[in-house]
Amino acid sequence: MPATGINDRIVRVDAAAKARGEAKYACDYTFPDMLYAYMIRSSIPRGTIDSIDMPNLPEGYYFISAKDIPPEGKNELWMIAKDWRCFADGDVRFVGETIGLLVGPDRNMLKYLSEHIEIKYTEMEPAISINDAIALKGGPIVGSDNVMCQLFVEKGKPMEEVFREADSVFEETIETGFQEHVHLETNAAIATIEDGKYTIYASAQCPFYISKAVAGLLGLEQKDIVIKQTTTGGAFGGKEHFPDVLCGPLLVAEYKIRKPIKLIFDREEDMLYSVKRHPSKITLKTALDKDGNILGIDGLVYYNGGPYLSGTYVVLQRGVFHANGVYDIPNTYVKGIGIATNTFPSDAFRGFGAPQTLFAIETHMEHIAKKFGFDPAEYKSRYFLKKDSETITNGHIIERVMLPEMLEKVATASDYWRKSKEYKTGEGRGIGISFYNHGGAFTGNGEQAIIKAHARLVKTGDRVRIEVGSTEMGQGFQTTLRKIAAATLGISIEQIDYDNPDTSKVPDSGPTAASRSTMIVGRLVQRCGEEMKERWNEGDFSVEKEYEHPEGHPWNQETFRGDAYLGYGWGCAAVEVEADKLTNEIKVVGIWSCHDIGHAIDELIVHGQVNGGIVQSLGYASMEKMENRKGYFKQTSMSDYVIPTSMDFPKQEWSLVENPYEWGPFGAKGMGELVFNGADAAYIDAVERALGITVHKIPMPPEDIEEALDAE
Ligand code: MTE
Ligand code: MOS
Repeated sequence: MPATGINDRIVRVDAAAKARGEAKYACDYTFPDMLYAYMIRSSIPRGTIDSIDMPNLPEGYYFISAKDIPPEGKNELWMIAKDWRCFADGDVRFVGETIGLLVGPDRNMLKYLSEHIEIKYTEMEPAISINDAIALKGGPIVGSDNVMCQLFVEKGKPMEEVFREADSVFEETIETGFQEHVHLETNAAIATIEDGKYTIYASAQCPFYISKAVAGLLGLEQKDIVIKQTTTGGAFGGKEHFPDVLCGPLLVAEYKIRKPIKLIFDREEDMLYSVKRHPSKITLKTALDKDGNILGIDGLVYYNGGPYLSGTYVVLQRGVFHANGVYDIPNTYVKGIGIATNTFPSDAFRGFGAPQTLFAIETHMEHIAKKFGFDPAEYKSRYFLKKDSETITNGHIIERVMLPEMLEKVATASDYWRKSKEYKTGEGRGIGISFYNHGGAFTGNGEQAIIKAHARLVKTGDRVRIEVGSTEMGQGFQTTLRKIAAATLGISIEQIDYDNPDTSKVPDSGPTAASRSTMIVGRLVQRCGEEMKERWNEGDFSVEKEYEHPEGHPWNQETFRGDAYLGYGWGCAAVEVEADKLTNEIKVVGIWSCHDIGHAIDELIVHGQVNGGIVQSLGYASMEKMENRKGYFKQTSMSDYVIPTSMDFPKQEWSLVENPYEWGPFGAKGMGELVFNGADAAYIDAVERALGITVHKIPMPPEDIEEALDAE
């Protein structure tokens, strides 16, 4: 078999089984004597549970709730904090909060029984929006002020001084909405007992997160629970902590019933009762001199977290660290607040908090440019970060920044400079442009101090098995990682095995999140491969490595100062639109992008990520509207929460620049989220130009454009 080169164009390894319908998703698993579960949830956003009246359960049916947790266990899911309860007990804090699990052999019977459970509540006034929560509507949900978490960063001079010296101040508030993940496979898990151990099969990004989160329910330790990842049909951050919410109740049910139990959400449940992207409210106040030069930016960032912390603090940190975008702003102060509301808890979603602040800074910079009569691209490019620039966290940009080259490529491909000048504002045609980045892997010393990733290669004859906890969720990691191993070892990709992780068999290589898999886990596998290659003739053996942080890049997690990221992915996107002035319908007629991802391990996969990420970002800015009214999501299906299809946007033109990353395998950096981070702002820029409006929020479906036109 010929050796596989790192740049070879190959068919991705998971393609055939998925295309043929052979891949085994959680719903495809059956076990003898298997039961089904149906979740009983809160139907009010806030209040106390006064009584639960159960119908008579037929034989073989069970209702599992907080009272079934054994005395040695605790009713909490250990995500980052332990505040999210496995079962609501006494009170409820959002619509959809788990109260119990109905379990039995017939799914129709479960549905029928669920309709006959009567739960009586005393309702309280909920806080739904960020403004409600700030105003402490209905009284505080968390602490005395609803602040779940907060942080600030500062760079340069004190802001009072900066504003004193300013000739003018430009202030605006920009808001972003909920976004639903709409992974094509809904959430699903099965709990059982195998070889005397509690075992959970789950559609999940982070198998080790689940075992950590749920073990304490039974007073057990993480190692006592085995998690097996099933083929995962998309995740996008929605299967990072959220599977804990299914697996926790399932584990308690398993403890009581001791038969295989399967829980699958249908699409409506998955849309109404799962985590979403954090809505945000971001106020940027910029000090300017008389020529429109930026003296400093003061930012206040609110993320709506729902009533439980889940990933909010980490998501918010990334949001704050990206609040100055790709710009070297001389003086800045940005405060971030995660605020508690009575909506479904918000959590990770592709971009992990960066898209909200990046949309705000991009749109703000574009508004300043237009106010002073500059072309947005030209104005923004004056502030591009460079190698050695000081970052918002007082660290430095370690790598070469190729934004000028990327702008050049995108501007040439899209004919930006001509179109930007020639298309007259408000005449129905517009081109917009944006710049963005994404810090690679976990922030600061997260990789070094918290995750401490491990990876292992096992050689048997001429075959090599990769043992890591990282998962395939559509992003192509099964292929990318095998390619890295094969190319390092100088063997064929056909000789590499890499199964969906089983936590009892593989080392913990950290969560499949933060676009870290290639740059961190890929590099670990490369290091294992380098040693294995040298010792190849020693027979059968294995090599395991632990993450090592490069020297000289300190980070202080208390003060949030230092090198937040060792490397970034960088992006530039242009979007051209035509607006129908009668219907306000916006037609995208061109999409161009250029990305710096270090080196592309697999160009076909990268192409897929670019296409998908950009379309998802355009959906976020345009049609994906998820409203929460009084605690209830209004959009309940894919016909009223509309995501883009291949018919909605034209074929994209894309390119890469080569900028090998010192600490990545074959020079690669992360890119799975980067490609989401900027097309939204380019689209809104284009829409503003086409219609002559100023936009302060996304999404902007046609009905909201109508409103903005009226306001103008
Ligand atoms: N691409 C597909 N097809 N499906 C997904 O669920 N998740 C995204 C991105 N690309 C996702 C995807 C998110 S949120 C992340 S963090 C990265 O992939 C994670 O994968 P990586 O670490 O291999 O980049
Ligand atoms: Mo991605 S939001 O870090 O799973």
